[in-house]
Order: sequence, then C-alpha cells, then structure tokens
Amino acid sequence: MGFKHPCGIPHELVESPADTRPSIVNEAQGVDAQHGIKGIYGAAIAVFDRTSMDDFLTVGMSMKKEADSDEGLMFSVPNTAGPSSMVEILHEPNDRQGTWTLAGGTIHHLALNSGNEENQLKLKAHLEGLGFTDVSDQKDRNYFKSCYVRSPGGALFEIAWSVEGGWARDEPPGEIGTTLVFPPWFEDRKAELIAGLEPANF
Ligand SMILES: [Fe+2]
Repeated sequence: MGFKHPCGIPHELVESPADTRPSIVNEAQGVDAQHGIKGIYGAAIAVFDRTSMDDFLTVGMSMKKEADSDEGLMFSVPNTAGPSSMVEILHEPNDRQGTWTLAGGTIHHLALNSGNEENQLKLKAHLEGLGFTDVSDQKDRNYFKSCYVRSPGGALFEIAWSVEGGWARDEPPGEIGTTLVFPPWFEDRKAELIAGLEPANF
C-alpha cells in the first residue's frame, strides 16, 4: 500500500513475514499489536548511474544483491541479529539532480549499525581503500559514534555503533522517548532549539 508523507516523499507499507520484531503499539491512537508497524523495512535511492551504486553497496558495504531489473536493484543489509533491511536503487537517469544541502523534513541519510567500533573503523578503511574517500572522521553523538560516507549516487550513509548504555545513558530505559533530551554540549541552547520545533501529538 503506497501513500505520501506530508513532506511529499512516497512511503509504502510492506508486509514482511520474516520480520519477527514485536509491533509498535499505540493504544491511545487505536493501533494494537495486530496493526502496528514493526519498523523500517528499507529505503529507496534514485540515481543516474546504477553501476557505481552496485559496486559501492556490494563491494564496499558488503550488501547482498537480491534483485536486478530494468527499474533498478535491491540489496539486503547483512544482519545476524534479525531481519535484513533493504536498500533499493531506482534507476532514474532523466530525473533532476537531488540536493546535498540540508532540507528540513526530508531524509538526510541512511544509518547502518556496525555493532562495534572495530567493525566501523574496518569498514571506513575498506571504503577509503576502494577509492570511496568521502568518509568523515568518527563523530561523537553521545549515545553512539558515527562516520558518514557519501555514496557515488549522492545519498549519504551513516555507519554507527552504540556506546555503553546507548539510549539509556541519560534516561531510565523505560522512559526513553517521553522527554526531549539534549547532549551536554547543546544544553545551553535548549530553549532556542525547542523554540524551533513544531508541536507533535502521539
Ligand atoms: Fe543518523
């Protein structure tokens, strides 16, 4: 089932019997376990040149090619701990060039979990060795540490791993997501950052 997010990006509800994760339930909005979504199945990236993305995702990122047709390609992300996420490459050579600047409300990057620092740094070195040299240094995001790599098609990928405690570093595990928390270095700008947000009701 396809629909449009208010930002204009098309979304699709995908049934995935292999996905054993529990549903996200929201009783207040009438979404029970039977109807709740389980998470993100994957994302699609429109590109001019499918071959360079094929190389980047298979040789560079160790993804597995699951489908190849006139419309594009489909890859699965290796995941020993659960269902694989999918990355779809849509071959759209006649569409307009996308932008690399920040664009509020749109998708900025796709994040992959490397599990630990060793895997992250190995992957960074592997990508750089292949010539994909547009990889950032490791950034400290408080709950996790990440590197960002620009793919040949323009889409940005994040390779991250959670630090000890992860999201529960500065909140009780059962209360994550109920309050707005800032990393220590943004604490002094809290009021200014909150003022820029739209209200959200769940
Ligand atoms: Fe991210």
